[in-house]
Amino acid sequence: MKVFEKIADLQNELFILRKGGKTVGLVPTMGALHEGHASLVERSVKENDVTVVSVFLNPTQFNDKGDLERYPRTLDADCRLLESCGADYVLAPSVSEMYPEEDRRVFDFPPQSTVMEGAKRPGHFNGVCQVVSRLFYIVRPNKAYFGEKDWQQIAVVKRLVEYINMDIDIVECPIIRDADGLAKSSRNTLLTKDERAVAPYIFKALRDSVDYAERHSLAETHDKVVSDINLVEGLEVEYFEIVDGNTLLPVSSWDSSSYIVGCITVYCGMTPIRLIDHIKYKG
Ligand code: PAJ
Repeated sequence: MKVFEKIADLQNELFILRKGGKTVGLVPTMGALHEGHASLVERSVKENDVTVVSVFLNPTQFNDKGDLERYPRTLDADCRLLESCGADYVLAPSVSEMYPEEDRRVFDFPPQSTVMEGAKRPGHFNGVCQVVSRLFYIVRPNKAYFGEKDWQQIAVVKRLVEYINMDIDIVECPIIRDADGLAKSSRNTLLTKDERAVAPYIFKALRDSVDYAERHSLAETHDKVVSDINLVEGLEVEYFEIVDGNTLLPVSSWDSSSYIVGCITVYCGMTPIRLIDHIKYKG
């Protein structure tokens, strides 16, 4: 496995490989890698001749600078994990290498980019699109791998690929959880022992609500999830929205759509750490 800090060095290698007819898979990450990321890399290794993983903590997608400062940075351990997954190339550029000058492009894909995380984290998806589009131009992958952990992000990236007219297959990979149900996340390492102990109640409430939804209205199900989680000391729901799986707009009854997903963001602990999760009700 080769690790590059310079974009041009990676591009030189990829140019030769592509000329030889090799297919390229890309897994964009921000580092602090765990089994969730590993599952994307392993899938790309299976489905492509060459796998490129980017490890870049993208400042333009952080609307909360404290969140960016706290974000764990573990490049050496990341490289060891990536090597064991069979990745071929790691691109780990500096901020000035990725952004030689300020990125002034504005990406706006309503409603997918403006609801939920888009509304609560202004500028977040614009930053995601800035860096993902750069990575797509740099690597020109055949396939790019994204996790359902960030379910809304996938919907936004799909709009982005259409918008920039690139022929890249966006591969959606299932969410990987700890044994107690908590979605694996780089931010989980920031939780204290007590916070880590209550965090699984988020997914428990979501999972329990699937049965509940069969006998109750959408509004009742919504309220039950919010109150189940808020009853747990140390957890506070920021939003829970039950939305159409394609438009990501709220639906008012179970009959309104054939594809319905509940999306949640919860504050955990005193810092607090913001945790996201989702559950599919229909489709
Ligand atoms: P990051 O949070 O590092 O995640 C990189 C990829 O790993 C994303 O596609 C994310 O959905 C996936 N992932 C994270 N945790 C996962 C889990 N538990 N199960 C399955 N997949 C998981 O998402 C980003 O970085 C950034 O926004 C990025 C796309 C790299 C742009 O900067």
